[in-house]
Amino acid sequence: RGVHYEPSDVAPRRRDRFDGGAPAPTSAGPSGDVFRNAVDTDPAVAAHRAWARAVTGPDSGFVGVQAPEVTDVATIDDAVARAVRAQEAWAAVAPRDRARVLRAAAARLEAHRTDLVTAMVHEPGKTVAESDPEVSEAIDFASYYAQSAEQLEQVDGATFAPDGVTLVTPPWNFPVAIPTGGVLSALAAGSAVLAKPAPPTPRCFEIAIDAIHEALDEVAPAIGLDPQVARDVVQFVRVPDGDLGQHLVTHADVARVVLTGSIETAELFASWRPERPVLAETSGKNALVVTPSADLDLAVADLVKSAFGHAGQKCSAASLVILVGSVGDPSTETGKRFRRQLVDAVRSLAVGTPAELSTVMGPLTEPAQGKLLRALTTLESGETWLVKPRRLDDAAAVAGIDPERLWSPGLRDGVAPGSFFHLTEVFGPVLGIMTAKDLDEALRLQNQVSFGLTAGIHSLDDDEIAAWLDRVEAGNVYVNRHITGAIVQRQSFGGWKASSVGPGAKAGGPNYVGQLGAWSDDTSVV
Ligand code: ALA
Repeated sequence: RGVHYEPSDVAPRRRDRFDGGAPAPTSAGPSGDVFRNAVDTDPAVAAHRAWARAVTGPDSGFVGVQAPEVTDVATIDDAVARAVRAQEAWAAVAPRDRARVLRAAAARLEAHRTDLVTAMVHEPGKTVAESDPEVSEAIDFASYYAQSAEQLEQVDGATFAPDGVTLVTPPWNFPVAIPTGGVLSALAAGSAVLAKPAPPTPRCFEIAIDAIHEALDEVAPAIGLDPQVARDVVQFVRVPDGDLGQHLVTHADVARVVLTGSIETAELFASWRPERPVLAETSGKNALVVTPSADLDLAVADLVKSAFGHAGQKCSAASLVILVGSVGDPSTETGKRFRRQLVDAVRSLAVGTPAELSTVMGPLTEPAQGKLLRALTTLESGETWLVKPRRLDDAAAVAGIDPERLWSPGLRDGVAPGSFFHLTEVFGPVLGIMTAKDLDEALRLQNQVSFGLTAGIHSLDDDEIAAWLDRVEAGNVYVNRHITGAIVQRQSFGGWKASSVGPGAKAGGPNYVGQLGAWSDDTSVV
């Protein structure tokens, strides 16, 4: 379990103050109006914004996915058969030569950065500001897993053998970094890969696969890999969910499935493949604890970033804040001030089109329905809205977005222990407030959730931090930092409890690649 610890007194930082009263004059509020502020007059900023609009906006010339959707079982069987043939050749390539391909892929992904950002803006509606670092994360995976491949060179006579043909089925919310990381880790291990995109984001994955094919084309001659076979080492298979998807997932020649998705999908896949490997990263219902010793201004800024980045559509997002003692008590000055600051911060988020560089919160990828619609529209017993979400029909019409997809952020107070909002992942822009009399109670509330993906604490008390770290049940824990945005190698990412299905090391960390195969004499890679 990794800890990302950034005490707030290590470096001077600019503090975003949300001191009550009217929302900051530089923001448009949750109306969805286009955000304007003084920096618009800076020619460099204006030029950057113009670039973002030109490459990502409606006139960018974006073309959608090129590969046709698979419509029959025979096409799937053919792709698997080609993968089985390529598997043998790829596994025979020395690990250091596989690493060369991954390093070439890092360079090719960088070359496709603009295309990838454009696809992310168009398909899932991810903002430019969130899409660009996601390309960097994909590149980091390529460089990191290249190192991991090199660690698989023969050691003391022991030899590493990969699992075999691997199916990578990623989610739509991180449509570049997670798919690319999944493919590259399997390639590093020596497995051939079938890459099945999430239905809302096929073009994002297709561009990344094109980049990996370019890397294979470039390096294959130097490492003695047949160029035709190299093409089959990774195949993009646009197989729809449903019967065809099930045929692929259950195929006898698919040795391993790597899934990032909902717990329901993970359980379904596991039931379809009893006794056969499924490695799944799933859902979260993540809370950030704020104690009276915290730097409260920083806690507000980190909460807003954790809860509303990508409109809350991250498995890692903060969905709950648990306020301890006086911070949670609205009859105290601290309690009043914290809620006022949080409300102002939520109200001041600029919501709108993802192609606008200044947009902080873009649209939902799919219209709100089910649990998310309930969370956006309905309070449970004892709850109140501090900021009520609204459907932004006018802004959606201007931006050409389905109105069911564009909502302002919500903040609900009084979430009760054991209630729907306490325990259920909703995957959208709603943050719920809970209160606890002390850290013990906060930990009980945090650990009562079945998931254990991310968790955070804001506290400047070392004893408090140590006690919390000792008892919190989550795969990724953050101290005095936002709880999204894990960093390859520095903060590898993976869940605990129901957030993970199948034993596994964390993505972007030690032995992630090593678990995708086995050493011949049980020697483990470190
Ligand atoms: N790796 C993603 C994050 O940490 C899910 O936010």
